[in-house]
Amino acid sequence: MLRALRNHGRLGRLCAVLTASAGLLTLQTAPALATPDTAEASGVGAQAPARTPLKDLTDNYVGSAVAASALGNEGDYRSVLTDEFSSVTAENAMKWSVLEPNRGQYDWSGADAIMDYARQNGKSVRGHTLVWHKQHPSWLNNLSASELRSAVKNHITTVVNRYEGEIRAWDVVNEVFDSNGIRRDSIFQRKLGDGWIADAFRWAHQADPSAKLYINDYNTGWVNDKSNAIYDLVRSLRQQGVPIHGVGFQTHLSIDYSFPGGYQSNLQRFADLGVDVAITEADVRMTLPATDSKLTTQADYYERLWNACEAISRCVEFTTWGYTDRHSWVPNTFEGQGAACLFDESLNPKPAYNRINPTA
Ligand code: G3I
Repeated sequence: MLRALRNHGRLGRLCAVLTASAGLLTLQTAPALATPDTAEASGVGAQAPARTPLKDLTDNYVGSAVAASALGNEGDYRSVLTDEFSSVTAENAMKWSVLEPNRGQYDWSGADAIMDYARQNGKSVRGHTLVWHKQHPSWLNNLSASELRSAVKNHITTVVNRYEGEIRAWDVVNEVFDSNGIRRDSIFQRKLGDGWIADAFRWAHQADPSAKLYINDYNTGWVNDKSNAIYDLVRSLRQQGVPIHGVGFQTHLSIDYSFPGGYQSNLQRFADLGVDVAITEADVRMTLPATDSKLTTQADYYERLWNACEAISRCVEFTTWGYTDRHSWVPNTFEGQGAACLFDESLNPKPAYNRINPTA
C-alpha cells in the first residue's frame, strides 16, 4: 500500500518536472506566445522561472542533515531547506549525549524543534542515531554490564516512543564495525557482547513497529572487509527474524580519492538481501580553495551517487550531510578541506546541484 502511494507520488512529481521543463521550453523558444495571464504567472519579463526542487525530481526521499540552531536562527537556510528537501535528519540533536547528558535528565529542545519543523512543513524524518560509540554521555562509562544493558534498552524505548509514528527510519546502530570487519571495541560491544545489536533492533521495533530500522556506517560504498561484515550481519539477523529493514551508506567522499568502485552493485547486493538501502550522509569534500575543475569533479561524484540510488528500486533515500557549505562538519574535521555540499555558503546551487537537477 505504501509502495503504491509512493508510486503515485512519483507520477505526480514527474508531471511537475515535465510541466516545469515545458515551461522552460516555452519561455526560451516562444515567449511571444505567452498570454498576459501566463506571462504574469510564469514571471516572463520579471525573472527566470523557478527550477523544480530536488524533492520533486524523484520518488525517493531527498534529505539533508540539519542543525537545530540554524533551523531556528536562519530564515534563508530554513527556506531553501523547505523548498528543496522532503526529509530531514538531526545532525546532532537526537544523539544520546545531547538528549540525556545526565542520567534521567532529558533535553528534548533541539529534537523537538526539528520535529515541529517537520510537522509544520510536511517533511519526513530520519532519526539519527540511537546507539553510537561517539556522542554518548560519559555517565555510561561507569555502569556495570547489566546496568548498561538496561540503560540502552531504556534509551531506545524512551526516544523511539516519544516520536512513535513520526520518524520514518531510525539509524539504530551506527558504525559498529572497524575497517577490518571486526566488531568495533565500544563500551557496548565490550560489556554487552555480540547480542547487543540484535537486542537494540528488537527494542526499537517494540517501541515503534512502524519505523524502518537501519544499520548505518561509512566507507561501505564498495566491497571491503567492513561492508562484507555488515552484509553478513544483516543476512544473519534477517535469518533470525530480527527486525532490521535497511542499510544506510553514509558516503562521505573526497575528490582526492577515486569514486568508490562498484558503488551501485555493492548497494544492490544489500538490497538483494531483502532490505532497503539509503544514502544517509552524502558529501564530497575537496582541498580548498575550490576551483572550477574541482567543482566539476565533485559534480561527477554527486551525479554518480544520485544515479546509483535512482537505479536501485530498493534505494529509498538520498540524504546529504548538510546541504550548504555554510554549515558543514568537514572544515572542523579535515584541516584545509571543505566545499563539500550542494549549495555554497550563500545558498546558491553549485555545479553538483545543477548536474543532478536537469531543470536548474
Ligand atoms: O554542542 C557543543 C557545544 O555546547 C560546545 O560548546 C562545542 C565546543 O566544541 O561543541 C559542541 O558540540 C559539537 C557538536 O558537533 C555540535 O556542534 C561537538 O564538539 C562536535 O564534535 C560535534 O561534531 C559532530 C560529529 O558528528 C561528532 O562526531 C558533527 O557536528 C556531526 O556532523 C558529525 O556527524 C557524524 C554522524 O553523526 C555520523 N557519521 C559521521 C558524521 C560526520 O562526522
